[in-house]
Amino acid sequence: IRSTFLDYFQGNGHRVVESSPLVPKDDPTLLFTNAGMVQFKDFFLGLKKPPYKRAVSAQRCVRAGGKHNDLDNVGFTARHHTFFEMLGNFSFGDYFKEEAILYSWELLTEVLGIPKSKLWITVLEGDDESANLWLNKIGLEKERLIYCGESDNFWMMGETGPCGPCSEIFYDHGPSVPGGPPGSATADGDRFVEIWNLVFMQYEKSSTGQMSRIPAPCVDTGMGLERVSAVLQGVTNNYDIDLFAKLISGCAKIFPESDVSNNSLKVIADHIRSCSFLIADGVLPSNEGRGYVLRRIIRRALRHGHKLGNKELFFYQLVELLVREMGGAYSVLSEKSDLLAVTLKSEEERFLETLDHGMKILLEHIKKSKNKNIAGEVAFQLYDTYGFPVDLTAD
Ligand code: GLY
Repeated sequence: IRSTFLDYFQGNGHRVVESSPLVPKDDPTLLFTNAGMVQFKDFFLGLKKPPYKRAVSAQRCVRAGGKHNDLDNVGFTARHHTFFEMLGNFSFGDYFKEEAILYSWELLTEVLGIPKSKLWITVLEGDDESANLWLNKIGLEKERLIYCGESDNFWMMGETGPCGPCSEIFYDHGPSVPGGPPGSATADGDRFVEIWNLVFMQYEKSSTGQMSRIPAPCVDTGMGLERVSAVLQGVTNNYDIDLFAKLISGCAKIFPESDVSNNSLKVIADHIRSCSFLIADGVLPSNEGRGYVLRRIIRRALRHGHKLGNKELFFYQLVELLVREMGGAYSVLSEKSDLLAVTLKSEEERFLETLDHGMKILLEHIKKSKNKNIAGEVAFQLYDTYGFPVDLTAD
């Protein structure tokens, strides 16, 4: 799927550009690379002249902090990850809405063979130009075109930076999966899943909230590799795709009591990806900034291992399996595999000393609690004495 995407756009005049690292270069406004467009930010803003007008990439992304944060959804939905791969095509002042829409439709329905009747489209309220393209150029039935407000259909990289209205493409997994169409009260379910976002970049938001026009309208798109894989592999949960199958069954071998459908295994499989890629890209566990986000993800994974009855070191053992699965597409993983294992192991040794004791305290308080609340003092004691980040306690 990854190479089909890159080949399709390369055949349509796009330069294939390597994924950039997860730590954005010279960009203090962003914790981690959270979308394919991050490495092209200065091209959109007109600060640097791009050496090509069209680009395509498969970008490694982490959404665990900042404006786009999926950490709290992992383990609770079928479609969220802290680490994922975003396939994207980009136009720097070259083509705009019409070609972006035509390319996306052709790739999804003709190249990948997804039935048109399964696809739903959203556009920003007032963006009749995009709506007309979908209805008249593509021939989409109007029942499957939905107008949404800015919270859904105006995309921004972060609190500041390039931004613009967007049009999102959803896949309907069918009535056996709970959830309603985009824009409805039950849109958060897993039935209708956004698979591709087409952003029509037109503005820059400044730190004072002002919007100014960028030099030329641009296109930035993002398609979730794991979500499209689920569609093409006929599964309704991202964690059932081939990329995750070996990771999850590898985790299951460490915890003989668990079976592969156990949610904690999915969380651990997700977290070994984000933690390993973050370390490979130069982040180390610490008590602040990016390093603290990494530490929090590692500790959440260890807590899930503990929930599965584990009292031994286990997380670092998964590095080898991950490198086998993903090292081919990302050589940075195989090159740094020793560093990954050593870093995770020492982090694990540190936390195992207090995890078991802290969990006993937490569980006692949860048992006593009548309304799912525990006192702030308890959360503080767990944080201060036992190294439980507050979001781990909440989770
Ligand atoms: N930059 C488009 C997206 O992340 O959805």
